Amino acid sequence: MTTPHILTGPDLAQSWSLIRRRAGERISLVPTMGALHAGHLSLIDAARRHSDRVMVSIFVNPTQFNRRDDFDAYPRTVDDDIELCRNAGVDAIYLPTVEAMYPTGFATTIEPGPIAQHWEGTHRPGHFAGVATVVVKLLLACAPDVAVFGRKDLQQLAVISRTITDLNIATAIVGAPTIREADGLAMSSRNRRLSPDARSRATAIHRGLLAAVTSAARSGDVDQIERAALADIEPAADSIEYVAVIDRATFVRPTGVCAPDSCALIVAAWFDGVRLIDNMTLDGLD
Ligand code: PAF
Repeated sequence: MTTPHILTGPDLAQSWSLIRRRAGERISLVPTMGALHAGHLSLIDAARRHSDRVMVSIFVNPTQFNRRDDFDAYPRTVDDDIELCRNAGVDAIYLPTVEAMYPTGFATTIEPGPIAQHWEGTHRPGHFAGVATVVVKLLLACAPDVAVFGRKDLQQLAVISRTITDLNIATAIVGAPTIREADGLAMSSRNRRLSPDARSRATAIHRGLLAAVTSAARSGDVDQIERAALADIEPAADSIEYVAVIDRATFVRPTGVCAPDSCALIVAAWFDGVRLIDNMTLDGLD
């Protein structure tokens, strides 16, 4: 097993990637904020299927946190992350410092379009500008042929795909399925902050998503689908930011009846101070 190259600045990432691409190798990137888990491993596996070399970036990006306490509480487990990447056969880890990413004088922000204005965009002001900007910086540093993101962050995936297309960045964006615990909880770096009680209550999110799929199969009525999901999630969560049916292309909530294969139910809810998000396509296939 080879130890991955650790690249601590954009210049090092650029030259590592350039040398491989000149040798005719395809490169994929899995952008992460660390605290890696089995969900990330599935992204690494997907990345490997698309390329000869896999890069993982680990950077807890301060500009995408709208709350300082959330940024401070975000789990940081870099030594374990490196070990996990080594065992997974990752070729290089891009591990920049905040100063390398945002040196003094840094002044440019990418403002994503309408998809970013709903849901996460409303509840986390500035979040998607931070995500779009850092992802573009990661792609320009690592210059991958392919970048793999989890579909658990469905709106993030849509914002990134739009941004990359609009800016003519020559990286193919791949969305990989959500990986769940045996009891249905979507894997997330935030899960390790859940108390045992919150961890057990949080399984209601998955039950709510499945109830939404069942309801969509019966009638497709948007209000009814949301009510079906809320019946599971509301009693379990401390508070709910949204439980909503959205059109997957626009992230706009349809009125009346929806087509299950083009819509998803999206959820953001709090459990003992931890904010969890999840989603499921209403045809139940994703
Ligand atoms: O999904 C994440 O972990 C982050 O939002 C990302 C895409 C790595 C950007 O910081």
